[in-house]
Amino acid sequence: MGAITLRPSHLSWSIAARLTAWYTATAFGLVLVATGLLYWAFVQNLRDEDQRLLADNVQVLRTLLRERAPNAAALKEVEWEWAARQYEQVYVRVLTDRGETLVETPGMAIVLPRETLAAVQRGPTERAVEVRGIDGRTFRAVTAAAGEESSARQTIQVAIDLTHEQDMLAAYRARLWLILAVALAVSAFVGHRIARRGVRPLEQITCTARRISSTTLDARIDRTGLPAEVASLAITFNEMLDRLQDSFERLSRFSADIAHELRTPVSNLRGETEVALTRARSLDEYREILASSLEEYERLARLIDSLLFLARAEHPETRIARERLNLRRELETVVEFYEGSATEHGVALTIDASPHLDLDVDRTLFQRAVGNLIANAVAHTPRGGSVTIRASADGPSIRIEVVDTGQGVAAEDLPHVFDRFYRADKSRASASGNLGLGLAIVRSIAQLHGGRVEMASQIGHGTRATLVLPT
Ligand SMILES: Nc1ncnc2c1ncn2[C@@H]1O[C@H](COP(=O)(O)OP(=O)(O)O)[C@@H](O)[C@H]1O
Ligand SMILES: [Mg+2]
Repeated sequence: MGAITLRPSHLSWSIAARLTAWYTATAFGLVLVATGLLYWAFVQNLRDEDQRLLADNVQVLRTLLRERAPNAAALKEVEWEWAARQYEQVYVRVLTDRGETLVETPGMAIVLPRETLAAVQRGPTERAVEVRGIDGRTFRAVTAAAGEESSARQTIQVAIDLTHEQDMLAAYRARLWLILAVALAVSAFVGHRIARRGVRPLEQITCTARRISSTTLDARIDRTGLPAEVASLAITFNEMLDRLQDSFERLSRFSADIAHELRTPVSNLRGETEVALTRARSLDEYREILASSLEEYERLARLIDSLLFLARAEHPETRIARERLNLRRELETVVEFYEGSATEHGVALTIDASPHLDLDVDRTLFQRAVGNLIANAVAHTPRGGSVTIRASADGPSIRIEVVDTGQGVAAEDLPHVFDRFYRADKSRASASGNLGLGLAIVRSIAQLHGGRVEMASQIGHGTRATLVLPT
């Protein structure tokens, strides 16, 4: 028997755990990426908005400065213009060409002194930059020339207080973290459910397998509703159970048969011995009793021999000693052995085989197989009948047919004749001392040689047993 190693039952759990982990990681990863992208887009939007607002401010200031001299009233106008639309505080400052403050939003000097913004590059395009004010607040600021022409050497500084925006973003982030936490929990839960669901059919199979013992070999896995992959596993498993059940049943029937077959000769022997011991016997009487016992011993020995042979033949490591034989010569040897009993039965034995056929077989086994077939044919053919042993090459194999003109085998018996202890006519067979193992042995021998044996029969007309052996 080949060793079959099964992993412990936690395998199913580990598949479920793995599936859960994969599902959770994938689902959560997607949510994480999506959320991150959304947040990034949102921040980007805000930044663009600020940038536009700052540029607008600069633009408005330029227009104002071109029209009149910078003063607080002009600034007020700018602030007013935006205050109506903005929640952010806007700071504006105009510097002279020498870098002195001309005018600025009140209070700007405290939070955003000139120098803080001086670091901001004064470029042709008004790129907004983030700067930190004295009190720690963050501003987005722009420094720009007041006009294109060189006379307008004034500098405009515009800054927006980002506190509100940052508070909003912080609140938004907090909400996103919450959503992510919920998403993680939900995907882990859903992943677990999905994995459990996927693995359940496997658990079903495991459960059935665990329930099965030698007495519950008839249990089968219910295939209804199983997914295709698992269904094929279930089918394979059920087929294996079919085979197991079949061999188990045959084995237990076989043991029962053996016990039954042993009982008859042993109880015969005991009976005879008991009777013999009831009183003193003459030497001749003892001799007669022993001779009768010898028959039973022989029957027992034959039974044990046959059983041992079958047991050995079934062992997968059994080797046979093949040798090259001339087929016709071997058949003649066997037929010679059965000639006597055939004559006694009034049955003609003939060989019809070419003398040029050779085959590689184990000589003893081959003779035993052919002998069993001939013995059967002779035994089941009435006086005046004939038994022919025909041999022919059939492609890569050789067919040896034992054809008789005897009583034949009933169709309902035919499928069973190769079973151990099977005898078509129980009463007659056991009286004749036949064990019903002859054909079982022939089949074993055929299989040991990689061949097969078949039987065809017509009741009342005769039987043909065919042994097919590869050359
Ligand atoms: N040539 C045959 N003609 C008729 N019946 C046969 C023949 N060969 C076998 N059988 C049937 O098959 C049964 C099984 O044969 P076998 O295994 O040789 O057992 P046994 O010869 O010990 O009865 C026999 O009991 C007999 O009923
Ligand atoms: Mg026989």
